[in-house]
Amino acid sequence: MNLVIIGAQWGDEGKGKIVDFLSDGADVTLRFSGGANAGHTIVRDQQTYKLHLVPSGIVSPDKTVVLGTGMVIDPEAFFAELHQLTNQGVLWEGRVLVSDRAHVVLPAYRKLDVELDQQRTEPIGTTGRGIGIAYSKKAMRDGYRIIDILEPEVFDTIPEDDREFLRRYREPLADMVIDVQRFMELKGNKTVLLEGAQGALLDLDLGTYPYVSSGCSAAAGACLGAGIGPRAVDRVIGVFKAYSTRVGNGPFPTEFSPDRDGRLIEHIRKVGHEYGVTTGRPRRCGYLDLVALRYICRSNSIESLAMTHLDVYDELDDIRLCVAYDVGQAGVDTFPASRTVLNRAKPVTKRFPGWKTSLSHVTSYDALPQQAREYIEFIEQYLGVPVDIISVGADREQTIVRRDPWTQS
Ligand code: IMP
Ligand code: MG
Repeated sequence: MNLVIIGAQWGDEGKGKIVDFLSDGADVTLRFSGGANAGHTIVRDQQTYKLHLVPSGIVSPDKTVVLGTGMVIDPEAFFAELHQLTNQGVLWEGRVLVSDRAHVVLPAYRKLDVELDQQRTEPIGTTGRGIGIAYSKKAMRDGYRIIDILEPEVFDTIPEDDREFLRRYREPLADMVIDVQRFMELKGNKTVLLEGAQGALLDLDLGTYPYVSSGCSAAAGACLGAGIGPRAVDRVIGVFKAYSTRVGNGPFPTEFSPDRDGRLIEHIRKVGHEYGVTTGRPRRCGYLDLVALRYICRSNSIESLAMTHLDVYDELDDIRLCVAYDVGQAGVDTFPASRTVLNRAKPVTKRFPGWKTSLSHVTSYDALPQQAREYIEFIEQYLGVPVDIISVGADREQTIVRRDPWTQS
């Protein structure tokens, strides 16, 4: 069975936690796109793990993780992360595999990434990890794949500066490298969790271009990243927050505004710890945007949703979510490509009474306050997709499962 899990907003939806949770049912976790721009946080047994490149399944002992073909891998960041895992007592040797077709991020790319963004009249707000440069080089056919740095014939054609940097990683990488397509072909009836990075609204094609990342964070990327066809995907799960956040620039129709929403932004940022894992930047916060979320559900065949951070709303008197955009002459409930329209769009909101009680110890759906269930059930009805998992805190235990995505029962 192959289960795909993607972020259904602009990243930071809590995928790390949900992937870690679901990885118990997976033999293999394969990350299919992105690079060290991602930041996945896992809290388990009183330890916090912050991952950027290594798939979130690594924290489950004895499971295999794969860095897939769609990824761009900075070897320095990768080995630093493995070192950090060793320090935290995670035994990863023999459990980390790397696609021979994944691309390499060189140190010069990071610098160039930042320089190019500074030169833009409207910067994107890149994380500066060299991701956009690596994907550009790949598209220009000037990139290096993992296999290229392992093969002496190709390695010798690489400029000496780059070779000097890469040399120290060749041996350790050679021990991890696999042909992902063959690996998937021979996996038999093993269960695979295909883990996305960022969110589908940051996908190069589906997202709010040009304010996007450069990889394929949509479900379609899982196929390329794992060397499988679309019919080999059994189910797609979308992870979303009870509200919305975005880091970096670009349209955000439901962003809280101080005039309209008072101190809501400070409250959500504080309670939800809305600061970037990779860059530490404060995240922009706003209402849950059902217009955008429905667009992502439909364009990614999302059949099952995991909602996170519901507890962040515990103290509010009332809670709003966005059901349409007011764009001047008319309201729209489809997600527009135009950034002019998106920038002009004002959220048309629906109000729900708050539950005013802590959800952090709730372990079953029926034990949720009625107000919280009403909020969730409205979302399901609007999207036509069930919310199967609800997270009410960072810890693994703080997860309500209504239907197990592995078995759908
Ligand atoms: P880049 O991928 O570092 O070039 O960043 C491009 C845009 O995507 C910026 O707005 C980043 O803030 C955003 N971004 C990249 N990775 C993530 C992520 O993992 N979570 C949230 N935003 C991200
Ligand atoms: Mg993140």
